Amino acid sequence: MKKRFISTIALAGAAAMALTACSSDPEPGASGSAAGGDGGGGGDTIVVGFAQTGSESGWRSANTDSMKEAFSEANGFELIFNAADNDTAAQIAAVRDFINQGVDAIVIAPIVEDGWDDVLQEAADAGIPVILEDRTVSASADLYNAWIGLDFEAEGTKAGEWAAAEFGDTETKMVVLEGTTGSAPANDRATGFDAAIEGTMIEKVDSQTGDFTRDGGKSVMEGFIQNYGIDNIDLVYAHNDDMALGAIEAIEAAGAVPGEDVKIISIDAVHDGMQALVDGKINYIVECNPLLGELVAAAVTGVVNGDEVEPVQYVEDLAFDQAAAEAALPDRKY
Ligand code: AHR
Repeated sequence: MKKRFISTIALAGAAAMALTACSSDPEPGASGSAAGGDGGGGGDTIVVGFAQTGSESGWRSANTDSMKEAFSEANGFELIFNAADNDTAAQIAAVRDFINQGVDAIVIAPIVEDGWDDVLQEAADAGIPVILEDRTVSASADLYNAWIGLDFEAEGTKAGEWAAAEFGDTETKMVVLEGTTGSAPANDRATGFDAAIEGTMIEKVDSQTGDFTRDGGKSVMEGFIQNYGIDNIDLVYAHNDDMALGAIEAIEAAGAVPGEDVKIISIDAVHDGMQALVDGKINYIVECNPLLGELVAAAVTGVVNGDEVEPVQYVEDLAFDQAAAEAALPDRKY
């Protein structure tokens, strides 16, 4: 089945829109296996436990803000928020805690793809619906009601296609700053990018995780510079803007000019990344839209009320070169 995307503009007011599933991706069980928890809610208030990854990046802050705004008291929710500081065991423990509290629904932004089967089964056994936002899991799609997020592989493909068009005909030595090991965006952005540059003259010299953080990007880039020499690195592919911003610091400290001596491609399009693109320090950014709150809240309301909810909901991403970033930055929401 063909994917249909929600555009950035439409997203702002589109919480109730119908979206479309994609057959190549997990089809979560919207069977109602977990519809309606015993509820700590009472009345019309929907009590929601949200297990966020942590606060690793500018993207994550924007996503948390979007979720808190959508799951407000004024909108009829009581939100129990947990940020796991990128610790998978802590995130699973938070979900177990939500189950014990008998919340009406659980929302998870899973840090990594694997290891979710048991706790998702426990939620289903307790009759508590689960909605995933942002990242995907490898567990059976029967164990959650819906997933709302971005096509990470397509993001990697867009970044790789731009790299192939710009540098594919010239010998180009590339290093990669990977996202959190085992996370869906790190896995899928690598897959999409690698396929897009296949057969070009871009050579991946090294690839290591910077954990989606600015500090991580900086220290991994410092290691690359030490190992290979700044003159032997032509291109950085960073799985997010924060790591690209850390890499910029490392490149400048090594006496080189980011965006000129060393080209940089990243993903997210958060404000600081877009500013660096406008300033010429990053060369291309593929968007990853963090404003998922309204769609997730609509899905939670639908599932709790027993309505049919589209089980797989993709949100569309844009891509920016310097001119596009200049035009977009003044109205950027994050
Ligand atoms: O899962 C989305 C990714 O997580 C974003 O690209 C990154 O910035 C965040 O930490």
